[in-house]
Amino acid sequence: MDETRHILVGQSPRTRQVLHLIQKLGKCRWPALLLGETGTGKEVVARAIHNISAQGPFVTIDCSSMVGPLMESELFGHVKGAFTGAASAKIGLIESANGGTALFDEIGELPLDLQAKLLRVLQEKEFRPVGSVTTRRSDFRIIAATNRDLAKEVEKGTFRRDLYFRLNVINIRLAPLRERREDIPALINHFLARVGGNYTITAEAMEVLLSYDWPGNVRELENCIQHMVAINSGPLLHVADLPSNLQNFILQKKSQYLTAAAAAPPQAAPAQTLAAPAPPPVPDPVAGPSGVIPLAELERRAILNALEYTKGDRAIAAHLLGIGRTTLYRKLKEYHMENR
Ligand SMILES: Nc1ncnc2c1ncn2[C@@H]1O[C@H](COP(=O)(O)OP(=O)(O)O)[C@@H](O)[C@H]1O
Ligand SMILES: [Mg+2]
Repeated sequence: MDETRHILVGQSPRTRQVLHLIQKLGKCRWPALLLGETGTGKEVVARAIHNISAQGPFVTIDCSSMVGPLMESELFGHVKGAFTGAASAKIGLIESANGGTALFDEIGELPLDLQAKLLRVLQEKEFRPVGSVTTRRSDFRIIAATNRDLAKEVEKGTFRRDLYFRLNVINIRLAPLRERREDIPALINHFLARVGGNYTITAEAMEVLLSYDWPGNVRELENCIQHMVAINSGPLLHVADLPSNLQNFILQKKSQYLTAAAAAPPQAAPAQTLAAPAPPPVPDPVAGPSGVIPLAELERRAILNALEYTKGDRAIAAHLLGIGRTTLYRKLKEYHMENR
């Protein structure tokens, strides 16, 4: 296992505060509740807390991936013959976590009946495997993670209040990446170091990476870097190597800029200035009096931009535009640009 996977990278004040809390929490065995959007590093934090105490196993229980009747047996195990298909006895995740840490990921997805059973394990350290008449013991530290607002779920009645209070002794809120952009360069270096090789991001590409909003947070950034390294042998990683979601973002920004330039009224020059006044923005000839440019025109320009950028390479242009090659050919025909 690559141990660098569990290092929490970042120097922003918010990340430093999280590192500080991890140090404190690592020394005790209280429950912790990790809150944050997907990909913000909840699992990294849980492992970091566990690694400080370094006691027993670390077990991740992904409540969103377990469904239906098998969920209870995944958690608590079952005895042989407990239900059709239970050919042998099975130890559940709760029992495997004995003596260590259990991370309940996406705990908001846990159904109410299992919430009640989990609460019992936390209080009594006891549980019963499916089909068993005897109880067993498991004592573990619980860390719960969620991207939901659990307090709201409690109000709605979909999450047990008593379990919520039990879990919410100490909570750590992980900020979305767009609210701590200072962490982005360090994270990029970390991911680049992990793939090995001697890669560098160009200044233009870095500018895009710093201004994108990262809805998938650090996970999306990690995937983005892996994509760039996969399609370019390096050492320089360019804007053209960015994956399609970022290419769309660039095109969107360009068209916003064009629309804004077209809509801006000509500015009156300041009364007295020594510097040469900036020329008034040229209104877009295609825009009507409202200044709005029709979508088809923006699409045509995006295609032109992409072809210009790739020096006519249609396969890469289609990739940059985030569309298939046949769609690009169809659109070229539509806009009478087959000869571009
Ligand atoms: N601060 C960080 N430093 C280094 N890697 C991080 C950091 N935050 C997240 N990651 C990486 O991003 C990915 C998603 O993190 P994860 O902890 O699974 O997020 P979550 O559980 O909140 O969805 C993982 O591959 C993880 O290693
Ligand atoms: Mg996760």
